[in-house]
Amino acid sequence: HGTQVMNQQGHLEIGGCDTVELASQFGTPLYIMDEAHIREICRQYHSSFVKGMENTEVVYASKAFLTLAMCRIIEEEGLGLDVVSGGELYTALQAEFTPKNIYFHGNNKSREELSMALNAEVGRIVVDNFYEMSLLNDLARERNQQINILLRITPGIEAHTHEYIQTGQIDSKFGFTLSNGTADQAIDLALSSSNLMLKGLHAHIGSQIFELDSFRHEVEIMVKYMADSQVRTDYRLQELNLGGGFGIYYASGDEPAKISDYAKTVRNALDEACQRHSFPWPKIIIEPGRSIVGTAGTTLYSIGSIKEIPGIRKYVAIDGGMADNPRPSLYQARYEAVVANRLNEEVKESVSITGKCCESGDMLIWDINLPKVKPGDLLAVLSTGAYNYSMSSNYNRLPRPGVVLVKDGHADVIVKRETHSDLLRNDVLPERLNHRQ
Ligand code: LLP
Repeated sequence: HGTQVMNQQGHLEIGGCDTVELASQFGTPLYIMDEAHIREICRQYHSSFVKGMENTEVVYASKAFLTLAMCRIIEEEGLGLDVVSGGELYTALQAEFTPKNIYFHGNNKSREELSMALNAEVGRIVVDNFYEMSLLNDLARERNQQINILLRITPGIEAHTHEYIQTGQIDSKFGFTLSNGTADQAIDLALSSSNLMLKGLHAHIGSQIFELDSFRHEVEIMVKYMADSQVRTDYRLQELNLGGGFGIYYASGDEPAKISDYAKTVRNALDEACQRHSFPWPKIIIEPGRSIVGTAGTTLYSIGSIKEIPGIRKYVAIDGGMADNPRPSLYQARYEAVVANRLNEEVKESVSITGKCCESGDMLIWDINLPKVKPGDLLAVLSTGAYNYSMSSNYNRLPRPGVVLVKDGHADVIVKRETHSDLLRNDVLPERLNHRQ
């Protein structure tokens, strides 16, 4: 992926940095983010959607991976930012991300989070439910502020990796249901709310989607609904946010589409739907998360203990695991890996990669073919840029790995490795338990 190559020593090199040197300089486990690759994908999105289509905005779903440095890259590449919590919003604001390019999502935003968004004057708040709508209108009225909103709609389709299904999907925690009249009520309430400016609708149909037809279907359903709403209310919704979900390559069998084909699908679907329903082209917003950072990330681990059960399995343990990458244990996610210090060696044996957490479910990769490894070798797990650092935990009191951003032979720490004392940062020992004094 990206700038990954094998150098003359047979080592994995990313962004011009030898990963063996990165391991000795920064330690392991280590998240490595390939800056040129992130920027290249941002540019593909920009040229396919923003330049290739009229009135389109690409907004990075920051839940996939967010740090101050990442905010800067996203802003420099001309993308907006989707945040879903006070913490993500705080990070964006601390990075001085332009507030009007921030979209604020979430199904249970608190009064404090909404106040923070109003103070910052973020571009759009995506209202999820009736409770939030009245809370937001009250807060905006108290401040004498007008706030631009989108309504999150549950459109009744759900995309799976290779297909989409029409679910009717009333049973979702997110958004206003389209099929049972709830979405109509939400539009009516928004239009009668004094301090809310209803700009348009939002929908998100799933994640890690390969089948572009799912997006075509989403466009058709949403444009039809926007056209029907205009007839019903005489108010024209101008913006359609299609959410994220574009899938990436993790392991064999994954067949991601091209970003340019994704844009083409959306454009053609819009053309057709707008014509069919006599509706003018809305402004289109998309919210890719995984596809911007997923393949740009690599996690570097040191191999430690190796346990062979003859005739059954060889367990190769690394110095991280489900605490820095919970996706295999959470979603049965599959990954590929290479031995970073011996790329040129012949693949010899099938092993299973296990983490160091105290449970048997802490398996990163089952049955992968690798060169014969020994303790001290470096394992690079690929495509770990999305939903790894952002979903990491301190389970078993493992300090979180650091994150380095590599480009043109330079490596900059963008998140420091946690130390053991960081783990105690918020621990408080009550006086009555402090026997040692
Ligand atoms: N917009 C909304 C409203 C979303 O809920 C999401 C993801 C996105 C955009 C970005 O979707 P993406 O382009 O990244 O697929 N933790 C899971 C993924 C959860 C996605 C949740 N929503 C994983 O590790 O696979």
